[in-house]
Amino acid sequence: MLEKINALLNETESFMAKTQSELEDFRIKMLSKKGEVSTLFNEFKNVPNELKKEVGQALNILKNKALDKIEHLRLALESKEEEVNFDLSLTAYPELKGTRHPLSQVRNEIIEVFTRLGYVISEGPEIEDDWHVFSALNFPPEHPARDMQDTFFIEKNPDIVLRTHTSSVQVRVMDNQKPPIRTISPGRVFRNEAISARAHCIFHQIEGLYIDKNVSFADLKQTLMYFAKEIFGNQTKIRLRPSYFPFTEPSAEMDISCSLCGGKGCNVCKHTGWLEILGCGMVDPNVLESNGIDSKVYTGFAFGMGIERMTMLKYGIKDLRRFFENDVRFLRQF
Ligand code: DAH
Repeated sequence: MLEKINALLNETESFMAKTQSELEDFRIKMLSKKGEVSTLFNEFKNVPNELKKEVGQALNILKNKALDKIEHLRLALESKEEEVNFDLSLTAYPELKGTRHPLSQVRNEIIEVFTRLGYVISEGPEIEDDWHVFSALNFPPEHPARDMQDTFFIEKNPDIVLRTHTSSVQVRVMDNQKPPIRTISPGRVFRNEAISARAHCIFHQIEGLYIDKNVSFADLKQTLMYFAKEIFGNQTKIRLRPSYFPFTEPSAEMDISCSLCGGKGCNVCKHTGWLEILGCGMVDPNVLESNGIDSKVYTGFAFGMGIERMTMLKYGIKDLRRFFENDVRFLRQF
């Protein structure tokens, strides 16, 4: 009987199956009710007692080897079938990659332009005191921007507020650095405004500040023209309109020729051919003096722009709320 078992062990070890049916035939031959292994187990009672242990072990080994072999071949044949069904000429599954938020993209583009001009990034806190947001920037005590309608107050007397503009970072920079200063400050700002297609209570700005000896309005204009052409294309024209900000004198608002109609007039530019994009001006001597910079030696210019507005103009987006909804159907377009 041991000889028979050894012969079947050899057969099991060398057995190969090319198809599932060959494998099934082997399984029936070895392991079915009337198969070799069962037959041997039935004959086991006739084995002399002194051989029972050895024969019993051999029989169990045979049974397990046959089970292993069949399972192994079954898996091998299945994966072979899968290989055959695998169409290597199909295009790869389209992987959806994440992208930067459009506001971050435009912010980074703006930063890149000014970095090329030697500006360095500075940042300040979103929760600020009255001094950095208003007083040091020459806001008169009764200025409407300090009013409850505009500003989110965290504490009153002394006033702690959510900054309403990134101009507060100018003050932080002047606190810590001596001229020459050339810095841009991107960041989030907060105003108590009703949310609509054109306004939000949270939005983003980039502030610019340049202070040195002999900085002139011509430098401001040249810098902003370079910036506008870099962001909106080389054919872009700019114009500066007189305006008022407490912290600059003279102050101006800058328009660019409408990037959507090229200045001919369309819905977006309200048929004027121009789009307002930022506020700017020469830093008011009062601001320099408040921040420990001698206004007889140094002059400077500053500008500030909304990143949402820049992004809307660049991509023709009509509703500012899209930026905050995080609808992937919107975001995937960038
Ligand atoms: N802080 C102004 C605002 O939030 C924008 C601004 C205008 C910044 C003129 C400036 C500037 O630095 O010179 O509307």
